[in-house]
Amino acid sequence: MIKGSTAIYGIFGNPVSHSKSPLMHNAAFRYFGLDACYVAFDVLPERLDQATQAIRALNMRGVNITVPHKERIMPLLDYLSPEAEAIGAVNTVKNSQGLLYGYNTDAWGFIQSLSERGIYVKGKRILVLGAGGAARAVVYALAKEGAVLFIYNRTAQKAESLALEYGSMGSIISAVSQKDLEDLVSLGGIDMVINTTSLGLKAEDPLPCDIGSLNPNTIVCDLIYKRTPLLQAASEAGCTTTLDGSGMLLWQGVYAFQIWTGLTPPVELMREALR
Ligand SMILES: NC(=O)c1ccc[n+]([C@@H]2O[C@H](COP(=O)([O-])OP(=O)(O)OC[C@H]3O[C@@H](n4cnc5c(N)ncnc54)[C@H](OP(=O)(O)O)[C@@H]3O)[C@@H](O)[C@H]2O)c1
Repeated sequence: MIKGSTAIYGIFGNPVSHSKSPLMHNAAFRYFGLDACYVAFDVLPERLDQATQAIRALNMRGVNITVPHKERIMPLLDYLSPEAEAIGAVNTVKNSQGLLYGYNTDAWGFIQSLSERGIYVKGKRILVLGAGGAARAVVYALAKEGAVLFIYNRTAQKAESLALEYGSMGSIISAVSQKDLEDLVSLGGIDMVINTTSLGLKAEDPLPCDIGSLNPNTIVCDLIYKRTPLLQAASEAGCTTTLDGSGMLLWQGVYAFQIWTGLTPPVELMREALR
């Protein structure tokens, strides 16, 4: 029931109508009987400044930020968490008496989605495909956990910059060429492959890398929320552990809900709402 007192939360993206975040957060508000509601706002890039001002002007309590605004919103906020600053992207904003605090819950959400499946990355040799915004959060999180990372990207220079930037966190990170990629996969020296590219969103997309010769113990993970051709091919190649991006989506939302409300989120209910 929306009333005069209802607190408004939301998500800014473009496009955004496909977002499942309203389902997950409204289910959690209902669970606690909170007088709050979560709405998706389709915000054009050139309107992001105005939309961010509107968080203050309309006293919205919090928003999630998705493509293409995660980086551009940063200078419009009052404070950034250390993670958001290090990753260079914000996906959660909290309005605290007119001051806007920016957080990044993607990195924690990603690690949580692995650990709930019993996957721990310390010392693991991990191949990250892609070097865009999602890869930044993933590489940051994995580097912090002490994984050994190999990054491959179509635009090689972006992989090299990412390796250089996060290499200083104490993890071993290298950018790899197309040739190195083939060797890494076929020689069986990889414990986990993570697709952070957008390849796989469309059924006709090529695989982000050839995985025909992967060791069956290799964990294959895709940040896309559905069973992608990569995950399908991994299963067919005998890989027993595959994960899509729905766990990361859930856990980044769980952490955002906790930041906004201070309550312990009803994780299983939120998972069910996403399903
Ligand atoms: N599960 C979750 O919670 C979650 C969270 C965030 C994102 N995601 C998913 O992660 C994916 C990437 O998002 P993003 O924000 O990182 O996007 P982005 O910043 O635009 O980066 C896209 C990445 O995909 C690569 N790429 C795109 N088209 C390609 C092609 N035809 N061939 C080879 N590489 C290609 C890009 O390579 P170049 O650098 O060469 O262009 C870049 O590395 C999306 O599918 C998104 O849905 C999931």
